[in-house]
Amino acid sequence: MKKKALITGVGGQDGSYLCELLLKKNYQVFGILPRRSSPELQTLRVEHIKNKIKLVYGDIMDKSNIDDVIKKVKPDEIYHLAAQSHVGVSFMSPNLTSQIDYIGTLNVLDSYKNYAKNAKFYNASSSEMFGNHGETKLNESSNMQPASPYAIAKLASFHLTKIYRESYNLFACSGILFNHESHRRGLNFVTAKIVKGALDIKYNKKNKLELGNLESCRDWGHAEDYVRAMWMMLQLKKPEDLVIATGETKTVRNVCDYVFKKIGLGSYKEYVVTNKKFLRPNELHYLNGNPAKAQKIMKWKPIYTFEKMLDEMIVKIEDRFFN
Ligand code: GDD
Repeated sequence: MKKKALITGVGGQDGSYLCELLLKKNYQVFGILPRRSSPELQTLRVEHIKNKIKLVYGDIMDKSNIDDVIKKVKPDEIYHLAAQSHVGVSFMSPNLTSQIDYIGTLNVLDSYKNYAKNAKFYNASSSEMFGNHGETKLNESSNMQPASPYAIAKLASFHLTKIYRESYNLFACSGILFNHESHRRGLNFVTAKIVKGALDIKYNKKNKLELGNLESCRDWGHAEDYVRAMWMMLQLKKPEDLVIATGETKTVRNVCDYVFKKIGLGSYKEYVVTNKKFLRPNELHYLNGNPAKAQKIMKWKPIYTFEKMLDEMIVKIEDRFFN
């Protein structure tokens, strides 16, 4: 019999790549989709596989609804990816972010514990939870000192997942994922914003690109590699919280430099201007992960390099918006 996987946040970047992976592995895939006004927008990223997966209406903020979905689907694996995932937005909407990212996780975890406790549970945690440590490589033992409303909500969910695992003997774990990108990334995240912005300039739609802090460093990988790690974590014999990262870090400035040159525009300095509007009240300056544990216990390794990831983003975003 096919294994059943249930994904919250199926309409997001990671949800779509995870669906593709699980379909290849012959799972029956169920995705939870909030019943909002524009279902066509929410399903854009899974449009090409819409007939192969089962989309169920549901909302992680509605506990009884999540109970019903979990009772009905009886999943073998649950991937909890739904979140308000924008760090900048979390400063403008701290309450909403806390509700979705913490209470939402509590709702899903609790339904899982009550109605599907033999399933395996993946919680999407974030490197943002580490906060500022200077130029250190971060691993599973590094201190968590969150610096944004998003990070504190994610940290609460991380601990809650651990509490449920230990209290109720569940296979529940969190992937501490560093930044991961692709052409399916929302255009309000910096890599996709830079690629789309540079292409707008190439096609004479705009002549400037406004950004915030160009000096922050991130450990950027490709979402396709990272969803593979999610699946691998649920295939382990015992639940482990693991750092998933490339081990390399680059500045936002490095991304601009690479993308503008690759597109044929020359120096980004001609086009990029800073606008205070895109600065955060508290910035996380440097993120670099050490994925040694994931490499050791799951033999996970990213396939994409930073350059290959951006090359793919340029080609596919150009194709989507300009061809
Ligand atoms: N979004 C955005 N827009 N970021 C900008 C801009 C801009 O115009 N200009 C500079 N930046 C800087 C941000 O200040 C940050 O330092 C960096 O670019 C990356 O920003 P994002 O792409 O928004 O990602 P993030 O690092 O804040 O968060 C992402 O990674 C986390 C894992 O570390 C998100 O995917 C989170 O959901 C995820 O948990």
